[in-house]
Amino acid sequence: MTDSALARAVKADPVGPGEPLFDLRDVGYTYSSRQVALAGVNLTIRPGERVALLGANGSGKSTLLKLLDGVVGPTQGSIRALGLDVAAVAAGEDGFRFHREVGLVFQDPDIQLFSATVLDDVAFGPLQLGLSKEEVRERCDDALREMGIAHLADRAPFELSGGEKKRAAIASVLSLRPQVILLDEPTASLDPRTKWVLVDLIQRMAAAGRTLIVATHELDVVPLIADRVVVLSEEGRIVADGRPAAVLADRDLLVRVNLIHEHLHEHGAVAHSHSHVVSEGHHGGPPPDAGEAPAESAASRDAPIRVPPRSGGPTCARP
Ligand SMILES: Nc1ncnc2c1ncn2[C@@H]1O[C@H](COP(=O)(O)OP(=O)(O)OP(=O)(O)O)[C@@H](O)[C@H]1O
Ligand SMILES: [Mg+2]
Repeated sequence: MTDSALARAVKADPVGPGEPLFDLRDVGYTYSSRQVALAGVNLTIRPGERVALLGANGSGKSTLLKLLDGVVGPTQGSIRALGLDVAAVAAGEDGFRFHREVGLVFQDPDIQLFSATVLDDVAFGPLQLGLSKEEVRERCDDALREMGIAHLADRAPFELSGGEKKRAAIASVLSLRPQVILLDEPTASLDPRTKWVLVDLIQRMAAAGRTLIVATHELDVVPLIADRVVVLSEEGRIVADGRPAAVLADRDLLVRVNLIHEHLHEHGAVAHSHSHVVSEGHHGGPPPDAGEAPAESAASRDAPIRVPPRSGGPTCARP
């Protein structure tokens, strides 16, 4: 398709102001192995929203992002995205046009990186768009700089560390400059500085009007990167959809969906009950920041409860 034909095609189905960008109706997805990943998902996402997608391992976050990206079509229900039927996009129709506007950073960077060098991977999308050499170069420079990996441009992706691969995979989507960016666990395996670089980048992209949907386990970044939180249960159903402050303050919900867990620490006859973020080590950092939610005091969080010694439940020695 020529550029002008593409431009005409893109204008053919504009998403008007206030219209949903994504509209999922009773969506289910079952893998061919009959593994049910998602069921009964109803979700509407509007342009410019910043959505965090939370859920335990296996709750369907990656599957949902793949559906939003048209990598696969729903096995039940329907998805409209940017005015298109995602089942048709997944079947190969309008894929080029769709992926100009929607970019997915996969959870596993090895899926995203397939070229001889990082630069080739970052340039791949813009080259597919048929942009001029100068424009491709500028986009690549920007994306590599944003992710702090300009020094890795000539390295082979398979030689990189896990975090470096992740940054290269993100850069390969940034260079496309899509309107909608889907990020699957983007901060996993990133060092603290790079994690905050990414948080800052997400904030700037959102301020520039992009739509961002981020699957994550890292509850501490959620209030910073999202104004809406969608929580999936371990059965692949949406069980909460609301403001970060409200959702993250609902500890019962977070325990129920296995995003935090309760530990019982015994000290003789006295036990402490603690909540832990699932991704933390046993004595990891503080519990999730509940954003604008009233902070739970250390006293209430750590309030000792008396139980008979060896009353059951997980225990651990505490300094
Ligand atoms: N290719 C596949 N074939 C069969 N089942 C799959 C496949 N990919 C995922 N699943 C299953 O679908 C369900 C949802 O998986 P998915 O990867 O979407 O979860 P997730 O929320 O992203 O988990 P995680 O936090 O571990 O990344 C799981 O039960 C998983 O075992
Ligand atoms: Mg996943």
